[in-house]
Amino acid sequence: TRTQVAVVGGGPAGLVVSHLLHTAGIESVVLDTRDVEEIATTHRAGILEQDSVRLLTETGVYAAGAERVLTDGDRHEGVFLRFGGESHRVDFEALVGASVWLYPQTEVFVDLHAARTRDGGDLRYGVSDTAVHDLGGRRPRVTYRDTGGAEHEVVADLVVGADGSRSASRDLVAAPERWSRTYPFAWFGILCEAPKSAPELVYTRSERGFALISQRTESVQRMYFQCDPDEDPDAWSDDRIWSELQARVAGSDGFALQEGPVLERTVLPFRSFVQAPMRSGPLLLAGDAAHTVPPTGAKGLNLALADARLLAEHVELALTKGDLDVLDGYTARALERVWRVQHFSYWMTAMLHLGADSTDFDERRQRAELAGLVSSEAGSTYLAEAYTGWPTR
Ligand code: DHB
Repeated sequence: TRTQVAVVGGGPAGLVVSHLLHTAGIESVVLDTRDVEEIATTHRAGILEQDSVRLLTETGVYAAGAERVLTDGDRHEGVFLRFGGESHRVDFEALVGASVWLYPQTEVFVDLHAARTRDGGDLRYGVSDTAVHDLGGRRPRVTYRDTGGAEHEVVADLVVGADGSRSASRDLVAAPERWSRTYPFAWFGILCEAPKSAPELVYTRSERGFALISQRTESVQRMYFQCDPDEDPDAWSDDRIWSELQARVAGSDGFALQEGPVLERTVLPFRSFVQAPMRSGPLLLAGDAAHTVPPTGAKGLNLALADARLLAEHVELALTKGDLDVLDGYTARALERVWRVQHFSYWMTAMLHLGADSTDFDERRQRAELAGLVSSEAGSTYLAEAYTGWPTR
C-alpha cells in the first residue's frame, strides 16, 4: 500500500491524528497489534479538558447534533479536595470560567473509531510483527503480518509513532534524551456497581494514603487508591477494598461512600517519563509513546490529543509545502505543554500521596499545603487552570 502517513498505534492518539489529517485531505493508514474490542474495553481515565471536548465536537468527529461527549458525558464545574476528614470544593467555573467533562477514554476511542470508519479510514487492527524501516531514506516503510500471517508493507512519506507507553517507535528516534521519575506507589483501580457518592470527583489525602472517588454512570463508579506497586489485585476481596476505601475517606462532614459489588480490579503503573526530540527524520511521536504522566489529574489522554493537534498542523504544512524541515517546530511546541503537564501531574501526586519515608513533618506540611490551596483564590486558581487545561492556541 502507498499512503501519505503511516500511523503506528490505533488508540485515541493515533486515531485523532488520522482523523485530523483526513480533515486536511491527507491520507493515512492506521496499524495496531491489538484488536478493537481489546482497546474498547481497557479502562483508562475519564476526564476531558475543555479543549479536548472542543477537539471532538469541532473537528467533525460527530455528525451535527450527535455529539455523544455532550449527551452521554457529564460536565463538572469543579472538584473536591478532601483532607483532614472534610471535603473542600474547588470551583473551576468561578475561578477560571472553565469546566471539564467526565467521559471515559474508552468512549473517546469508540467515537473516534466510528468517525474514521464512517469516513472510509484505512484501519488495520489485530496485525502482528509491526516494524518500521528506512527512516533514513526517502520512502519509509512499515511492514506487518495480517491475522492470517501474510506479510504486508505500507510505504509512506511520514510515520507517526502513537504506540503508547511501551512504544517501539520511540526507540527509532536518533540520539534521544530521556527523563523519568519513579514513585514508590501505584494505584489500585476498581469499577463497581454502586450509586454516585458525590456530584463531582473527590481527590482524598488521608493518613493511609491517597484515594479518588470518580464516576462512570448512575450505577457504575470508578475509584482508585494508592497501593504498593507490587500489589496483587486478586489478593483483595470486595470487603478488603471497601474497608480500605472507607478508612481513607472517613471524616466528620457526613460524606458517605456508597458501596457495591466490585466489577473489575487492576493495579495501574505509575511513572513520569519524557523523551525528546518528538520528531526524527520522517518519524513523529505522539501521546504516551513520547511521554507518560502519573494518573493523578487525568492528563494522559488530554496531552495525547494536544500532541495530535500540533502534529497534524505540522504534517499538513510539511506535506503542502513539500518541505520536511517544517516538522522541526513540532518538538519544541509539544514539549512546552508536556513539561507543564509533567509538573502538574507530579504536583497533584505529591500533594495527595503518602511518600515512602513520609514523616510527621511531611504530614503536617502536606495538610498545610492543601489548607492553603483551598483557602486561597490565587492558590486554587492554578489548580483550576491546569485541571481544565491550558488553551491549545
Ligand atoms: C479518573 C482518573 C484519574 O486519573 C483522575 O485524575 C480523575 C478521574 C477516572 O478514571 O475517572
